[in-house]
Amino acid sequence: MDKTPKPKQASKKSHRVATSGDIEVSTYLEIAKEIAGEQPAPSEEAIPKAEREAIIVIDFGSQYSLLIARRVRECQVYCELVPHDVPWEKIAPLNPKGFILSGGPASVYEPEAPLAPAYIYESHLPILGICYGMQVLTKQLGGQVTPGTKHEYGHAVLHLSDADSPLFADLSASSPVWMSHGDKIEEMPPGFRALAYTENSPFAVMGNDDRIFGLQFHPEVAHTPEGKTILKNFVYQVCGCKGNWTMGNFVTESIARIKEQVGTGKVVSALSGGVDSSVVATLIHRAVGDQLTCIFVNNGLLRREEVERTFNVFRLNLGMNIIYVDASERFLHRLKGVTDPETKRKVIGDEFIKVFEEEANKIGKVDFLAQGTLYPDVIESTSSVSSASATIKTHHNVGGLPARMTLKLLEPLRLLFKDEVRQVGLELGLPEEMVWRQPFPGPGLAIRIIGEVTQEKLEILRSADWVVMNEIKKAKLYRQLWQSFAVLTDVKSVGVMGDYRTYGYLVAIRAVTSADAMTADWARLPYDLLAQIANRIVNEVPGVNRVVYDITSKPPSTIEWE
Ligand code: XMP
Repeated sequence: MDKTPKPKQASKKSHRVATSGDIEVSTYLEIAKEIAGEQPAPSEEAIPKAEREAIIVIDFGSQYSLLIARRVRECQVYCELVPHDVPWEKIAPLNPKGFILSGGPASVYEPEAPLAPAYIYESHLPILGICYGMQVLTKQLGGQVTPGTKHEYGHAVLHLSDADSPLFADLSASSPVWMSHGDKIEEMPPGFRALAYTENSPFAVMGNDDRIFGLQFHPEVAHTPEGKTILKNFVYQVCGCKGNWTMGNFVTESIARIKEQVGTGKVVSALSGGVDSSVVATLIHRAVGDQLTCIFVNNGLLRREEVERTFNVFRLNLGMNIIYVDASERFLHRLKGVTDPETKRKVIGDEFIKVFEEEANKIGKVDFLAQGTLYPDVIESTSSVSSASATIKTHHNVGGLPARMTLKLLEPLRLLFKDEVRQVGLELGLPEEMVWRQPFPGPGLAIRIIGEVTQEKLEILRSADWVVMNEIKKAKLYRQLWQSFAVLTDVKSVGVMGDYRTYGYLVAIRAVTSADAMTADWARLPYDLLAQIANRIVNEVPGVNRVVYDITSKPPSTIEWE
């Protein structure tokens, strides 16, 4: 057969990787970074040229800042999140149509409190301040903010007092909103009037005739069900955006851009079967065809039929150049006697890089390395504000390839959110099964086998995992779950089958719901489904005589067992 590798992955020495995508791939990149030092961050990619328009979110560090950008993009308007001290020259090329000032943890009357740059007021473009952003507006435009005597946190009911405001088109006269603020606005700046109120906030929404608005609540969160309508009104009714941010446009424009960037150069990409690496490879293949070579490394730690499925889609259906490397033996050899989870990760990452480099060297001169970096990774790596998300998540997978490879990075997805990547995948005609695949960790089944990894245990786990996946899909729960899988513990227990006493392995089932893997809840799977899974596993998987269901959430547990 032929060879294809497995992608990048980020994972740090401390392991767990919480973000996007091709978790597989990012892990390896992170390990590579440790080995070989940082590579310079790639330069910002331009956004699509056609009728360029953008809403700029000035980030004051709220944990919801990225969510604002996502919501705006869901309205089909391009949106970027920038640090609050970003210079105008950086954002001018995006052709801003309006600004949103995010929430944040600071208090505006503190001496070091971050404020909005003067150019946002001088530009005379519309501005929407959210929570802390509203307080910033108030302070900078001559109003007064004071420390609140009590923190207002949770649900409130918003009542419109000026239903004719363009911000309120199609909004109910009263609707639930989500509050989370300590400080309060004592006096609005000159020229502003209250447009809506809640029980505790007489100025829950304020606005002036220069298209500057403030919201005391968070329109971007799900707890404010009509919040998206407010954001939509802001971008369309107030800022006059046209709404050209569609994944169809993105595909067309990024293909053109990749062609321009790559020219006659050669691109190498790691392929894992994960969503991000699959979309990256397909997009680049559309742009430059055979100038792209994908490397697919079978590390022997993949799930049943994973290799065949990936290979069929890319080689057979899409006709890509794929180098397939069956390095199972190498990986298994290196894992002999290894029981510590972090050592497993290190060994696997290290071996991956070796195999990848060996194969890449055989291709001859290569100019670009494609990577499935996503927007949240980019933001995490560049944010000047220590946003809550940035401090919780420590990893990032930007610029992490071995310096010795001296390849230029090609990151066509670096402006996209995960849900946008999925849409791009569908636009490109990738099978739904691939586009909606649950994340699978780079170290694969190795971190789902507690203790030493052996061929025998891999076989047991593959069979058990197959049953879980099969039943979850049959129950139509696959997409609703963040992840669902089997874990092979190193516990053996006594059982009885027919007239025989057995002494077999204990398999644990893990199924969780989550938005981003930072936190996760154990899934309340129906009992009948659990019974069916347990029953099938003990009957179909030799060596297993007991099945348990993991009912812990994250935190305090992690999603994976190792
Ligand atoms: P934990 O177990 O930390 O997992 O709650 C969070 C998410 O990260 C995935 N994960 C990994 N992905 N390499 C990866 O590529 C790793 O070493 C790794 N460890 C955990 C896990 O599957 C979950 O989606």
